[in-house]
Amino acid sequence: MRLVLLGLPGAGKGTQGDRISEKYGVPHISTGSIIRESIAEGADLGQEANAYISRGELIPDELALQIVYERIVQPDCKKGWILDGFPRTVLQARELDRRLAQNGLDVQSAFDIRVTQAEAIERIAKRRMCSQCKAVYHLEHYRAKGKGICDACGGELYRRSDDTEETARRRLTVYMRQTHPVLHYYAQDGRLFSINGVRPIDEVFADVDHYLQNLVSEDVGGVR
Ligand code: AP5
Ligand code: MG
Repeated sequence: MRLVLLGLPGAGKGTQGDRISEKYGVPHISTGSIIRESIAEGADLGQEANAYISRGELIPDELALQIVYERIVQPDCKKGWILDGFPRTVLQARELDRRLAQNGLDVQSAFDIRVTQAEAIERIAKRRMCSQCKAVYHLEHYRAKGKGICDACGGELYRRSDDTEETARRRLTVYMRQTHPVLHYYAQDGRLFSINGVRPIDEVFADVDHYLQNLVSEDVGGVR
């Protein structure tokens, strides 16, 4: 199973990626999360990426490609992967296809989780993340039971530094200019599936899962 999750910042890529990963047993790879971890660790990659991410701009394509290529060759990716937040430019999409084709592989499906810009801003403003296990919450739609404490691991919840309204608006503008064309890239050969993301999390997942069950049943020998 090799999937990519597309959609505005705050659309629910991370939320759905976690659920798909849990059900189908393939790793959920978020380039944004990898970058944030590198920043927290003070790694070279993080230092280079920090200036971009804090402004709501994309990191350079070469850096994003390097992150993904290093990750998808890890042993846990043998049965596939779910990429969240990658590709974000048409160049990244083309390069990924080119790289996979060298091994006779492809991206099977791209899901576009559609929400309005207003909904995206509202979700980003009310998102909280666990500082330890990185679980994602929302102050209204998906609340932690204890105030400011993660249900899963007891870690402290925090707000992402790029989740200010100003940076979120910048991320939306950048998405429309640089990432929206990626939808057309996958649509032109029938790999794009459009999902209405303005519904409860379980309903969105039911739709995604419907497509995935078809995908899995089409694969001779099960999950590729
Ligand atoms: P990244 O971390 O990917 O951020 P993003 O694309 O802005 O997306 P988000 O993580 O904000 O939103 P999401 O769609 O995952 O939503 P979530 O599930 O959390 O990237 C960050 C930065 O890294 C970029 O700006 C860039 O600088 C850099 N970067 C990353 N990849 C790159 C690349 N390939 N190339 C270049 N640069 C790159 O949900 C949001 C909230 O809504 C949560 O609170 C959640 O609980 C809630 N929610 C989710 N679904 C629902 C629902 N159905 N109903 C109600 N609430 C919901
Ligand atoms: Mg995310």
